[in-house]
Amino acid sequence: MADLMQFLREEGISASILADVERFRQRFPVADALQRRVPAPRYLYYGKEIWEEALTALLCGENLLLAGPKATGKNVLSENLAAVFGRPSWDVSFYINTDAATLLGTDTFVNGAVSLRKGPIYQCAESGGFGILDEINMAKNESLAVLHATLDFRRAIDMPGYDRIELHEATRFIATMNYGYAGTRELNEALASRFVVIDMPVITPEDLIKLIRREFPDLRDSFANQLAALFQDIRQKCDGGELSTKPLDLRGLLSAVRLMHAGLEGNRALDLSLVNKSFDSFERQLVTDVIQARLPETIRYEDVFA
Ligand SMILES: Nc1ncnc2c1ncn2[C@@H]1O[C@H](COP(=O)(O)OP(=O)(O)OP(=O)(O)O)[C@@H](O)[C@H]1O
Ligand SMILES: [Mg+2]
Repeated sequence: MADLMQFLREEGISASILADVERFRQRFPVADALQRRVPAPRYLYYGKEIWEEALTALLCGENLLLAGPKATGKNVLSENLAAVFGRPSWDVSFYINTDAATLLGTDTFVNGAVSLRKGPIYQCAESGGFGILDEINMAKNESLAVLHATLDFRRAIDMPGYDRIELHEATRFIATMNYGYAGTRELNEALASRFVVIDMPVITPEDLIKLIRREFPDLRDSFANQLAALFQDIRQKCDGGELSTKPLDLRGLLSAVRLMHAGLEGNRALDLSLVNKSFDSFERQLVTDVIQARLPETIRYEDVFA
């Protein structure tokens, strides 16, 4: 946590926003039993503007919808946000059959009596948690109507047969939504209207260099720069419509470096992690061409790592 605050100061996030976050944390201490739910992030999110927007919105009591293409750090940012606010968090993956019972809870029998087995949204609401509503657009919009009162000014959960419960003051919801490729669904207006929406950008070349340097401290500067430039080349080809977004995959780029670290020759590592994500031989060739224009024919371990 202290590390994360330090990181945000180094990234140049406004000191007054950070002071407000600090005050929020002091105002809402976390019970011991929930400490294990406060995330300790493995990755840090890079992107100063997005950080400031997200922190400000949450401080104002808004719920956030992070919308954007794959591997733009939507889950990394959600987890980082819960960590920096020091809140226990519940991660709920939405899918086509997500319904009220999955989210809020169901009746169960305990020693012959009916009792409520609380769902993640219920627990989150009670304990001032951060609810990460992952891929919220994958659920049927109609089944999410049960969340309307939870997500708007009413800040409440009303389940038939149970007391209405008010959301804890510290409770926030952060939804993620992927778009931009086949199979992604729209979110309806009523739901979208209950969030502040951040359009998640693809990481900048400068931030990408910081990210890979931190992930792989022994990576050579020159190679880090080349990788960032390669990612930029692919991105331009996507923007220009020459490539689909399949090879524009930061996850893949990071996997490639991991494979190189394990000893695999660089171009083979890039084949496995970037090129082969296109299942179209024409596109595969285009990606290979982009890589060859930027990197040598053989990439040995010692070219990559110091
Ligand atoms: N701006 C960024 N800062 C830090 N890491 C990033 C950033 N953008 C992407 N990443 C990296 O990309 C990878 C994917 O991140 P994450 O799982 O959060 O993406 P996502 O947007 O949720 O993707 P998907 O839509 O496919 O679920 C991680 O390794 C993460 O570190
Ligand atoms: Mg995700």
